[in-house]
Amino acid sequence: MRAVLLGTAAGGGFPQWNCACRLCASARRGSPGVPARGQDGLAVSADDHNWYLLNASPDLPAQLAATPALAPGPGLRDTPVRGVLLTDAELDHTLGLMLLRGAPDLRVYAPEPVIDALSEAFPVRGLLDSYAEWSWQPVRAGEPLTVHGLVVTAYPVSGKRPRYAASAAAGDDWVVAYRIEDPATGRVLVYAPCLASWPDTFDELTAGADAVLLDGTFFTAGELAEQAGRPAPPGAGATTPMGHLPITGPGGSLDRIRERTGVRWIYTHLNNTNPLLDAGSPHRQALAEAGAQVLDDGTELRI
Ligand code: MLT
Ligand code: MN
Ligand code: ZN
Repeated sequence: MRAVLLGTAAGGGFPQWNCACRLCASARRGSPGVPARGQDGLAVSADDHNWYLLNASPDLPAQLAATPALAPGPGLRDTPVRGVLLTDAELDHTLGLMLLRGAPDLRVYAPEPVIDALSEAFPVRGLLDSYAEWSWQPVRAGEPLTVHGLVVTAYPVSGKRPRYAASAAAGDDWVVAYRIEDPATGRVLVYAPCLASWPDTFDELTAGADAVLLDGTFFTAGELAEQAGRPAPPGAGATTPMGHLPITGPGGSLDRIRERTGVRWIYTHLNNTNPLLDAGSPHRQALAEAGAQVLDDGTELRI
């Protein structure tokens, strides 16, 4: 299978348009080792011809344009993009759906609460219905679906609702991770860009995986507060700011990774506060020592 990292930044991208922090300023200047990053998304294919997007960021038009495998053709309006799999309903993962409105027949897969949110609180589904008949299909925990040779299984990982849907019903499958298997080769990729904690099912989800893309929003639990000049929250390591499990600190994901060798661990969805954005940082070094990495936008994995 081929997998292209379309974007690796959290909501707002990097640099973020309204942020004057040191890292954003470095990226804006084009400093070496601090590349700009679009908002999180991935494209996968088993056969080079039929591609599925995982999440649809508002940066999608630029991400598609930067990815030769996703170029239109051979017919005038043909596209190799067959569908979109959503991990959640957050704006950074769904705004791009509007920008795909020229597609006549896309399939959108998402957990049920996400489809409901996109029908009600953020009614993108209804708006898109006026442009094209897409099919919107709920994904259910542990029920694999096959999309052009890839077997995809959703695992609920958190109940984090977007702020715009704060009054919607609670549920444990607002956010899922996807296990993507190519049965022809037995190779497995896991995509988990939004984790509120290390899920109980994560070992099952990642069993035998060749590569795992996981939530790298925050390096430390306190970095967001620190940047805003607020004191770090008490017991910072154990908290999950904005519903994102930090990389380091007690209960952070890096300690789990250190214990789980034999998998390629790749952090994505990096917030603009995350020191890992600087390739020359000692934080990157610490990551490498624990067996994890950060890759640039546009990187293609052959799995
Ligand atoms: C998140 O990942 O927590 C959200 O995308 C935050 C946001 O709305 O930008
Ligand atoms: Mn996000
Ligand atoms: Zn910034």
